[in-house]
Order: sequence, then structure tokens, then C-alpha cells
Amino acid sequence: MLEVSSPGKIHIIGEHAVVYGYPAIISAIDRRIKIRAEESNKIKIKNNLYQKETQFEVEETAAAAKKSRELWKKGDKKNDFTDLFAFLKSDFWKRNKATIGLILFSLKIKDGVSLIIDGDLPSGVGLGSSASLSVAITKAIAELYALQISNQKINEIAFEIEKLNHGRPSGGDNSACAFGGTIWFEKEKIEPLSLPDFLKNLIIVLTKRKLSTGDLVQKVGNLEKNFRDSKIKNIAEATYKMKLALKNENLDEIKYLINFAQDNLAGLGISSPEINELVRGIREVGGAAKLSGGGGGTVICFHQNKEKLIKLLKKLGPNFEEIKLGAEGVRVES
Ligand code: MEV
Repeated sequence: MLEVSSPGKIHIIGEHAVVYGYPAIISAIDRRIKIRAEESNKIKIKNNLYQKETQFEVEETAAAAKKSRELWKKGDKKNDFTDLFAFLKSDFWKRNKATIGLILFSLKIKDGVSLIIDGDLPSGVGLGSSASLSVAITKAIAELYALQISNQKINEIAFEIEKLNHGRPSGGDNSACAFGGTIWFEKEKIEPLSLPDFLKNLIIVLTKRKLSTGDLVQKVGNLEKNFRDSKIKNIAEATYKMKLALKNENLDEIKYLINFAQDNLAGLGISSPEINELVRGIREVGGAAKLSGGGGGTVICFHQNKEKLIKLLKKLGPNFEEIKLGAEGVRVES
């Protein structure tokens, strides 16, 4: 049996602005989706993350992919992907069917595949689980059928899947999962970045999230244009400054920019009272914090004195964990 894994990601800065063509700084993290794969004449999926399993004919994946692509094109024309998202949510396996259909079509494979999905990457919290899954399944199927395709090609296929998942994503999430490390992502161009030592580990808090990334991107898109553009430009400027601050290991500037980005993301209406409260507490003790990804979900928390931050989080009460940034991209495990 073949095993591959792909990391999740956090946005250090630039989420949402990146959807409008501005850069983002994204880092792969040490939480991964794992896929074990075997050849099969059907499609078999065992999703251990949800304790569910199923099997169906290969043709069903082609039908789901075709229908999703049609709905995506319609959504793209009318600037509204509601019908696509409703179709993909219409049953638990629809998204997987469309994903696998698109991969088999792209790789010109006619046979089926048996997949076991596992890992320690939480889903639906802005840690890139959908991108990581798209990348991992693409790599697993390509490896299983001994296709020598590059990570670049895997990333391109995963981006097409991400379009079904989120409408008009930037492609940053799948790029971070495919290539790993910390990346500067701008208009699909990728540049590796290095992080100062004090930023290689971060504490994250996972908060409750009501809307999916696709819905949140749509929500921002529906805001009055001038209002939205001013916040997006602020985030973009802060992202350029962050690149320099990371290079110069400028601790105070990095903290300032994290907090500044959070204020602008909150201005776009995608923070939550729970996050605002947490951010306030962390700022009061001299730290910095911001939501990461689509909105709600993950909060990245930083303080140069980690003990102080941990003491505060224990007092405030949310569950928190420490993650390592700059993890390796998609890879074969065995
Ligand atoms: C989601 O992880 C990041 C967003 O910027 C969307 C995207 O880049 O496609 C909100």
C-alpha cells in the first residue's frame, strides 16, 4: 500500500487580499493529511477523520466532476457560486467524487482507486485542509499509477479542485501544501522565504467557525467596493512590509503588522467576538495575534516571551497548541 502526506498551512499575512491579486505569506505546518492508496476497479474511500466509508463506480466521479465544472462556469459568469457549493454539499461524498473525477480526468486514468484518509490536520478551521486533501489525493493517485509528474503539475490539478471548493481561490493554499516551507505567493508566482527563529514555532487557538472559506471570500466580495478596497490595500501594504520585517528579523515591526492585518480583517467583517476578545487579551500583555485563513477558525498568537503567552492563554481558557512552521510539502511516506 502506498502512503502520501501533505501539510496544512497558516497565513502569516495576506489572506483575502491575495484573492485580489496581492501577495500573501503562507507557511506549511506540521499537521498533515495522510492518504493510503491502492489500485481498485471501483472507487473506495474510508475517511477515518469522519469515521465514514463508501464505494461507488468510477463513472460517478466523472459525472460529479462534469456537473461541478458546469456549475463553476455558471458561478464565475454571475459572480455567485451558491449553486456549486449547494451541489457539493448535497451529500457527504459529492466533494470527494468531484475531486477524484477531476484528478482521474486530468491524469487520463480510467481505473479506480481505494483511499484511506487520515491525519492530524483539523478541517474547517482555516488550516488549509481542503487544499491539503486535494494535493494529497492527486499525489497519491499519480504515484499509484507510476506517473512521474512534478509538484508543479500536482499543484495545478489541486488548484482546479480548489476552484470547485471555494469558487475563486487565489491558489495560495494549495501551493503551500504542495511545495511546503514558507512562501511568498503573488499571482500564482511562488518564492520561498525564510523565517526568523523566533517565528518558527507559533501558538494557535482554534475557535468556532460558522462559514466556509468559499462563503467568506464571497462575503468579502459582496462588500461595497471602495470600503473593501481600502482594507484590502492596507493588508497588501502590510504584506510587503512583512516580507522586509521577516528578512530583518524586526520583532516589533512583525508584531505591529500582525495586529494591523487583524484590524483590517476584522474591518472586512470576518473576525468574530471570540477572536476579538482573544486578540485584545494578547495585545494587553504586549503580544500580537490575528485570524489566519478565511475567517473565524484559527488564530495565530505570538509573544516574544512564550511562557507569558501560555500563562495568559491558560487564564483565558481556550484550547491552544504549538505548531512548527515551514514543514515539508507533499511527500511519499512509504
Ligand atoms: C484561505 O485560506 C485564504 C483566502 O485568502 C482565500 C484564498 O486565498 O483563496 C481567504
